Amino acid sequence: MAIIGIIGGSGMTRLEALSVERREFISTPYGDTSAPMLFGRLDGLEIAFMPRHGGNHQVPPHMANYRANIWAFKKVGVEQVIGMAAVGGISERMAPGVLCVPDQIIDYTYGRKHTFYEQDLTSVIHVDFTEPYCDALRKRLIATAMEQGVTIVDHGTYGATQGPRLETAAEIRRMARDGCDVVGMTGMPEAALARELELCYANFSLVVNWAAGLGDGGPITMAEIERYLDEGMVRAVQVVSSLEVAN
Ligand code: HPA
Repeated sequence: MAIIGIIGGSGMTRLEALSVERREFISTPYGDTSAPMLFGRLDGLEIAFMPRHGGNHQVPPHMANYRANIWAFKKVGVEQVIGMAAVGGISERMAPGVLCVPDQIIDYTYGRKHTFYEQDLTSVIHVDFTEPYCDALRKRLIATAMEQGVTIVDHGTYGATQGPRLETAAEIRRMARDGCDVVGMTGMPEAALARELELCYANFSLVVNWAAGLGDGGPITMAEIERYLDEGMVRAVQVVSSLEVAN
């Protein structure tokens, strides 16, 4: 059975349910990964796990070495990667607590190392990104969630912001007009880099707060976020650990 890669986001710095068999620091031409890669089993599923924010949740979204993390998966032969993320909800159906497998992205980030195609090029390369996520992996996540009785929103547009600050109310209103359903800080360039290396990559998001200016309109608090994070990630891990991964 093929190993599946998991990039853990906020609330998933440690994958408690993972029985770790081996940890390895993967060297890459792009510098250090966020942490050593952990290899092990989640129930029966063989997993390679990388906490995006480092082992102690010390790497902020705008500082993560997305290129090294994605390269490391390719280097160890992982072909399917799930990027887990905590996000803010923008559209009505994305209330806190909701799990979502987005199907589109809008990229509002800037200044990040966002491509492998920079140096030593023999020609200019433009990868197709019409459908930014791997449909086969998305469908597998959605089907598994249904089998497990875990409610999931099966599509949506992920707006990737620069962070680390949260957005203004006006920025969220603009993102809503643009068609964003959720907002997070890590979805890009991770998805595009995975596409450049021809990995099958899907995002699996947990909504942990109403985005700025929505909900009761007050400030977004860490207490609010943490309330949804722990319980929601348990449901997300339940889905992932029940995946049957195609070879
Ligand atoms: N905005 C951006 N990123 C986030 C949010 C948010 O409201 N919540 C969790 N990650």
